[in-house]
Amino acid sequence: MNDTIGLFYGPAKASSTEKVAQKVASQIGTDRVDLIPVKDATAEDLKKYHHLIFGVSTIGKETWDGYTTRSDWDRFRPELDKAELEGKTVAMFSLGDHVTYPRHFVDALGMLYEILQNKNCRIIGHVDPSEYEFEESQGIYNGKFVGLPIDEDYEPERTDERVKNWVDQILGEFNQ
Ligand SMILES: Cc1cc2nc3c(=O)[nH]c(=O)nc-3n(C[C@H](O)[C@H](O)[C@H](O)COP(=O)(O)O)c2cc1C
Repeated sequence: MNDTIGLFYGPAKASSTEKVAQKVASQIGTDRVDLIPVKDATAEDLKKYHHLIFGVSTIGKETWDGYTTRSDWDRFRPELDKAELEGKTVAMFSLGDHVTYPRHFVDALGMLYEILQNKNCRIIGHVDPSEYEFEESQGIYNGKFVGLPIDEDYEPERTDERVKNWVDQILGEFNQ
C-alpha cells in the first residue's frame, strides 16, 4: 500500500476546485500527494491509496443525479460507487458560494458523505460551521461540516488560512 495521499478532484482545467486542490497539495508537500482529476480516474486508481482526499465543487443536484450533464463527477460517480474503500481514511473539501446559494452551501459534501458512509471507511477532516455564514447545508452531520468548505467566489481571502488549518488537522487525523 502506498503512503502517498491520493487527492482526487473535479472539475479540472482552470476550475476553482483545481486551484484549491493544488493549494492543499502544496500545503501537505507535493511529494506526498498525487493529484488526480476524477475525469480520468477509475475505481482501480482509488485502490492504490490508503489515504484519500476528494475535492468537488457544488453545482447543484443535477451534478449528481443528471447523467446528461456529464460533469467530471458524473463520469466518476459510478467508479466511486463500485470502489472498495474499507479500511481507508478519507477527507473531503468542497467549493461553494455562500452568498448566491445560502440554502445549499457546499451540499456536495453531504452527497459524497452519503456514498462514503456505506463503505466502511473512516471519514476525517470535519469542520466547525461557526466560522461560516450560510442558512442550510446538506454537508452538515452531527453539527459539523463533514469536510472543508471553501468559497472562492465571496471569501477567497480566507482560503489560504482555511486550507492551512485543515491540512494541519487532517495530517494528524490520517495517522490516528
Ligand atoms: C450552475 C451553478 C450552480 C451552483 N450551485 C451551488 C450550490 O448549490 N451550492 C453552493 O454552495 N455553490 C454553488 N455554486 C457555486 C460553485 O460551487 C462555486 O462557484 C465554485 O467555486 C465553482 O468551482 P469550480 O470552478 O471548481 O466548478 C454553483 C455554481 C454554478 C455555476
